[in-house]
Amino acid sequence: MEQFTGKVAVITGGASGIGFSLAKTFAAQGMHLVLADLEAPALETAAAQLRADGADVLEFHCDVADAAAVDALAAATFERFGTAHIVCNNAGVGGAPGLTWEVSLEGWEWTFAANLHGVIHGIRSFAPKLISQGEGHIVNTASLAGLKGAPFMSAYVATKHAVVGISECLALELAMTNAGVGVSVLCPGFLRTRIAESGRLWPDHLGPNPMPEDSAASFIRDLVDGGKEPDWYAGEVLDAIRTNRFFVLSDPAHAAAISARHQEAVGGTQPTMMNLA
Ligand SMILES: NC(=O)c1ccc[n+]([C@@H]2O[C@H](COP(=O)([O-])OP(=O)(O)OC[C@H]3O[C@@H](n4cnc5c(N)ncnc54)[C@H](O)[C@@H]3O)[C@@H](O)[C@H]2O)c1
Repeated sequence: MEQFTGKVAVITGGASGIGFSLAKTFAAQGMHLVLADLEAPALETAAAQLRADGADVLEFHCDVADAAAVDALAAATFERFGTAHIVCNNAGVGGAPGLTWEVSLEGWEWTFAANLHGVIHGIRSFAPKLISQGEGHIVNTASLAGLKGAPFMSAYVATKHAVVGISECLALELAMTNAGVGVSVLCPGFLRTRIAESGRLWPDHLGPNPMPEDSAASFIRDLVDGGKEPDWYAGEVLDAIRTNRFFVLSDPAHAAAISARHQEAVGGTQPTMMNLA
């Protein structure tokens, strides 16, 4: 997609972090925005800020873990704008941390519901509409953790590997069918967002919150705080949509970890730790 002005971008998790940076970047191109998020007050604030800067914004309060809610998001988008061009399945959480055999079933469920099912719902609700209009681009947010594992992050790593795999299948299917719809998968390392405070989003139906807001390990907070700016990364995403690039990394230095993984597969050796910084 080379021309953005007047087109429509849908962004889940649009109230904060990468999603909000994508919204600002698309608005600067003259796009109309649909901003979806679980956090109603943050959503209102983000939408108000974008409107104050001149953007045309529809905000939609929804939990991407709920398939019906994402269907309703698609319906509201088409009712308001009659179309959608860029769909960013971006909402996600840092997930339940811990040793793989100790992560609770509720922790697995929470992480999968937001990070994996949210992306699946976005594809199911929007892809047929983009295909029928013969134009669009789907942007799925995975992570560098979708390309290489790391200790204490099994639930998160599992969802992000799944998002990379699903995105690859989707891209192949859309290319085979000449659908006119592109796909990009975002695989950034640490970016400065609220991801380390994801415990704020723990749903009541899973019982007591095991991750109060300040419970993230301090080294994770430091890595997030020392990460790159999401506004810079959103510019990379825009460029990837413009040039139909599939993988969108955030640092050329990550190539070493990605190559190491493939060499371990081919060489039959044990996994090595990547440098998380
Ligand atoms: N920040 C990083 O270092 C980093 C690195 C790689 C990938 N990511 C991914 O980027 C995406 C965005 O995260 P971020 O870093 O901007 O964090 P963030 O916490 O700043 O923003 C995430 C947004 O998603 C929303 N959200 C979470 N669960 C939701 C749900 N079930 N339904 C609707 N909205 C929901 C939150 O309310 C929040 O507004 C996530 O998928 C995350 O896994 C982040």
